[in-house]
Amino acid sequence: MQQLDDVREKWLAAAAAAASLEELEQVRIEALGKKGEISRLMKALGGLGAEERREAGQRLNALKEAVGLAIETRKRSLGEAALDARLAAERVDVTLPPRPEPEGRIHPVSQTIDEIVAIFGEMGFSVAEGPDIEDDFHNFTALNIPPAHPARQMHDTFYLSERVDGAPLVLRTHTSPVQVRHMQKHPPPIRIIVPGRVYRRDNADATHNPTFQQIEGLYVDKHVTVGDLKGTVEFVFKELLGEEVKLRFRPHYFSYTEPSFEIDFSSPMVRKMGKRWLELAGCGMVHPQVFKNVGYDPELWSGWAFGFGIERIAMLRYEINDIRLFYENDTRFLKQF
Ligand code: DAH
Repeated sequence: MQQLDDVREKWLAAAAAAASLEELEQVRIEALGKKGEISRLMKALGGLGAEERREAGQRLNALKEAVGLAIETRKRSLGEAALDARLAAERVDVTLPPRPEPEGRIHPVSQTIDEIVAIFGEMGFSVAEGPDIEDDFHNFTALNIPPAHPARQMHDTFYLSERVDGAPLVLRTHTSPVQVRHMQKHPPPIRIIVPGRVYRRDNADATHNPTFQQIEGLYVDKHVTVGDLKGTVEFVFKELLGEEVKLRFRPHYFSYTEPSFEIDFSSPMVRKMGKRWLELAGCGMVHPQVFKNVGYDPELWSGWAFGFGIERIAMLRYEINDIRLFYENDTRFLKQF
């Protein structure tokens, strides 16, 4: 009997002392498991006389129950402690400063487009757009560039397979076809600005890329003059590139304007590049034949148009000397704007 009391004390103490759920499981196996001490004592009952066996059996059952209960109790408190420890360890410290979110930027070419559109927006111009895949008529013919005209060769056109109606298709070589599309759909007066991607069979180098962005402007009303064109273009480029820049209008040829000009640009930065003038844009007074092609009366309406490359403007604004940087999407480059 004394022996059973010792056994009981031993396992109650062991259960209470178990420092983890694993240790407690070990105690359970050694005490109550199939080969555990209490189970062995149960088996030994068989060798006793009937009277003794009944009494010892009752005591052993009570012992087994007490040890089982002690293990359960300990298990619960160990579990609670484990939960408390986890709650303490995983507490969210709401006073910590937030981790910085990676921040997106607007691409410098898009920033330049947005700014040009905003400047023209203040002068009452709205944005018009057209398709990248253009038909020969809108890209060339309606702009007074008939088949076999040498001006076509200047464009290094990407030709696509013909449309179902047999019309030759191209990747547009400039944004000028959108002038035609817009005038075909809207009666004058017109004030539009046309940003868009254009395509030419150029090799990629520091100043060329087979696709780039242009912006086209078109103004049609009664009594529009070259003075309006010059004044507007000068105002816009000074807004974009700084008050101190110089602009020069040089006579040129475009089949869709008469007279036509190229606009050259000079600034301290252009001189730093070892040049005096940099070609910036083409422009002119809309050719009467273009008005006829879209159904406007050239006796009644006059207008100016211009077109230029956005990347070149962005390069001047941000002092970038390689156009390819705009297309590589290296975030170390893009993050600077
Ligand atoms: N389309 C010409 C080019 O890609 C630029 C241009 C010149 C646009 C004169 C015009 C214009 O609207 O009037 O080089």
